[in-house]
Amino acid sequence: MSFRRSATFLAALFLPSLGQAKFPKNYILPDIINGTAPVPIETTVGSGAYDRAYIPSHNASTYEWWYFDAVSSDGQSSVVFVALVVPTALGQGTEVSAQVITPDGEIFANRTDYGPEGKFWVSTRGDGSSGVIGDGDFTWVGQPDLSQYELKVDLPEQDISGTVTLISAASPFVGCDPFGPDARTHTFWWFNWINFMGDAVAVVDLKVGDKRVAFTGNGYHDKNWGPVPYPPHLNYWYWGHGRAGDYSLVWSRVVAKDNTTISGAWLARDGQVLRSTCVHDESIHVEPFGNNVTIPPNRPNDTENIDGFDITINIGEEGLYQFRFDSNRWTNGNDGNYARWIGNFTGGKVGEEASSGVGVTEQMGPFGI
Ligand SMILES: *[C@@H]1O[C@H](CO)[C@@H](O)[C@H](O)[C@H]1NC(C)=O
Ligand SMILES: *[C@@H]1O[C@H](CO)[C@@H](O)[C@H](O)[C@H]1NC(C)=O
Ligand SMILES: *[C@@H]1O[C@H](CO)[C@@H](O)[C@H](O)[C@H]1NC(C)=O
Ligand SMILES: *[C@@H]1O[C@H](CO)[C@@H](O)[C@H](O)[C@H]1NC(C)=O
Ligand SMILES: *[C@@H]1O[C@H](CO)[C@@H](O)[C@H](O)[C@H]1NC(C)=O
Ligand SMILES: *[C@@H]1O[C@H](CO)[C@@H](O)[C@H](O)[C@H]1NC(C)=O
Ligand SMILES: *[C@@H]1O[C@H](CO)[C@@H](O)[C@H](O)[C@H]1NC(C)=O
Repeated sequence: MSFRRSATFLAALFLPSLGQAKFPKNYILPDIINGTAPVPIETTVGSGAYDRAYIPSHNASTYEWWYFDAVSSDGQSSVVFVALVVPTALGQGTEVSAQVITPDGEIFANRTDYGPEGKFWVSTRGDGSSGVIGDGDFTWVGQPDLSQYELKVDLPEQDISGTVTLISAASPFVGCDPFGPDARTHTFWWFNWINFMGDAVAVVDLKVGDKRVAFTGNGYHDKNWGPVPYPPHLNYWYWGHGRAGDYSLVWSRVVAKDNTTISGAWLARDGQVLRSTCVHDESIHVEPFGNNVTIPPNRPNDTENIDGFDITINIGEEGLYQFRFDSNRWTNGNDGNYARWIGNFTGGKVGEEASSGVGVTEQMGPFGI
């Protein structure tokens, strides 16, 4: 290597203004300095690590969470782990939420609160993050290129322990904009979203009580944050992800209190993105089906009748895509304010033979407030 080349190389490594280098960064959350003062919130992807803390210091109303899930390839079991900073207005602080559906349909769901004093450590390397919450109750290690996340769970109070590995089958995206430093992460001002693994290969090996939950299947990782709690601003949302054959899909339909509706889809085939956008019209359509299902949902907890969801994505000349999520298991969370299902996922391009796989989906709200 010539001197000139190595000098350029060193400059690129040590002078961030000249290169793309992303330096490791540490956060200790919630880092509340003054609960009633506004705090800076990042609302674009920016040039830092993609999977960083977008609210490095919290106040009493801000929230931010890291979400991971996996569904077994028979669509019968699943795990969801979320590490959160939740508004201290709700008296919590940092928290781990866990949900496990065992192969025989038993549902373990619980939250462990650590309060505002509970340290939630996050460090970035490259674009990936690693975190420790609850003195090691839950830890994750993300690769700098977002290719893999290793989760370790040791929740004695909830009697859940073991590991989850997510190996990415996707590239990062946001709800509406083409992905890049200027991409906005908020669709509504009260809700930011960035997705790191719209689809992943998941390897799960957990012990839950005296049950063993071990499978491979589909995994997922994203994160959300915002300035104030979203329930007063949200009417309801539908969200989910699934893989059918070589198609991977993440869908969403968010309806605000004023009925402004934004529907989003990230659709990939063989890892190549076909569509990643949001719309205000019906070119992306998400609709629940079942006996006596009310659309829009007219009260909290109105989810038991839902048997599944139909998702239609119209990409004009590039084709019409139709997918169906068929519920195998319904779970009711958070006093009925949201529901989550795991199940079968089928579909593809209209006119071609449908493929099948599994998925996870959710209804959030209405909150009745
Ligand atoms: C917190 O911030 C608010 C609003 O800026 C200010 O009025 C208050 O004095 C601050 N409290 C402390 C303890 O600094
Ligand atoms: C917290 O900060 C956000 C963003 O700056 C601001 O919108 C919100 O009003 C603040 N909350 C409180 C309780 O001061
Ligand atoms: C949640 O965990 C607490 C202990 O932290 C336990 O007392 C409670 O029974 C658990 N709830 C459920 C629904 O398992
Ligand atoms: C939103 O739509 C629902 C159902 O169509 C309707 O009952 C409600 O009044 C609408 N809300 C607003 C603020 O327009
Ligand atoms: C739908 O709801 C109506 C009114 O509550 C009820 O009479 C009817 O039996 C329900 N239909 C089914 C298929 O559950
Ligand atoms: C999901 O697929 C499995 C395997 O084909 C089948 O046994 C099960 O009945 C399906 N579930 C639903 C809700 O269609
Ligand atoms: C929601 O519905 C489920 C099943 O019908 C019921 O067990 C639960 O108590 C309900 N929760 C609320 C808050 O209504």
